[in-house]
Amino acid sequence: MATLKFPEGFLWGASVSSYQVEGGIEQCDWSKEFPAGKACDYYNNYEKFFNLAQELNHNTHRLSLEWSRVEPREGEFDEQALLTYKYMLQYLHRRKIKTFVTLWHFTLPLWMEAKGGWLSPEMPQCLARYAKKCAEVLGDEADFWITINEPMIYTTMAYVLGEFPPREKSAWRAMCLVKSFPRVHGAMYDAIKEVLPQAQVGWSENYSYIESYDKNFLARTLTRIWDYIRNGWLLDRTKDKQDFLGVNYYFHDRVKFKFRYPYIFVQNVNKQVSDIGTEIYPKGLYYVLKKLSKYNKPIYITENGIADAEDKKRTRFIKDHLFWTHKAIGQGADVRGYLHWSLVDNFEWQNGFSPRFGLVKMDYETLTTTVRGSAQIYAQICSTNQLEM
Ligand code: BGC
Repeated sequence: MATLKFPEGFLWGASVSSYQVEGGIEQCDWSKEFPAGKACDYYNNYEKFFNLAQELNHNTHRLSLEWSRVEPREGEFDEQALLTYKYMLQYLHRRKIKTFVTLWHFTLPLWMEAKGGWLSPEMPQCLARYAKKCAEVLGDEADFWITINEPMIYTTMAYVLGEFPPREKSAWRAMCLVKSFPRVHGAMYDAIKEVLPQAQVGWSENYSYIESYDKNFLARTLTRIWDYIRNGWLLDRTKDKQDFLGVNYYFHDRVKFKFRYPYIFVQNVNKQVSDIGTEIYPKGLYYVLKKLSKYNKPIYITENGIADAEDKKRTRFIKDHLFWTHKAIGQGADVRGYLHWSLVDNFEWQNGFSPRFGLVKMDYETLTTTVRGSAQIYAQICSTNQLEM
């Protein structure tokens, strides 16, 4: 048995996002077609969930602010909602839990949707105004600010596959959207820094490990280009305004180019898949971290998790991903934290409540929680700052 020690001060914890756990959010674009109802009732019971995080030895927690709560009408801020978020962060800090605060995690207030959402020319100023207000009220209660969650996943889900609101399949719009992210992120970054010059600000992107399905030269070259579009293009355009890199890792894609446009096959090399068919490929995280090292920025793994209702694979999943993370650190990657997705089962977007990503199991009828076995093992890793393999 080997003992793998993590660097001193390593951050350990879990992530959630507002719409997926809070409950009672009815003024955003998701609430019409994909209502989340009371979800986990996190907003009213945050103490319970944060106590659980503390009992599980987490020293970090990532949550998101719900824009439609904070700014229910354009330019009108709900001071009470902002104070509630402030209390949440203070509650965590009193328990010595550091805070990652995401400003935008997939949901738009109805008024922003009516303006055209992400394709509105007003998006940079609207998100910057919101970011500035949040920075003014929350101040140092946020240790890390995440402007936008997973720009490339949002683009794909909303404008390529048409599964997220506004469910528009349009290659042209998808391209316009991708091009707009550096400007929006930049405006948010500057707005936060204006109020809090010392703040740590970045975004979380979903990086997939991509390899070529066919081994010929053309296929490999096309794969490299696709990999750059998927994982590198946006980062190269925002790197001066990323104080750290937030890494969400879930996917291993084997890319096969057929005819004139790309097909992406997620080929199961090891035949181990999650409940929703995502391949489990821990080594891909190592490749992703190694590749990101060239940016010379601190890296935080802000999401990594598995849909596993029976909790049969989660322990192995966590350990294997941490094994490869540790290896990447040993080879120079400046990884400073790991936040598992998710603290508790939650509303999994277009898939509703059935996928179970939580370290903690949620009974949505009774709103009772049960700590899963894997959460206990992860708790030992968090408290000892080391992994036994
Ligand atoms: C998203 C989460 C989501 C998770 C699991 C990530 O891409 O940021 O909101 O629940 O994946 O699918």
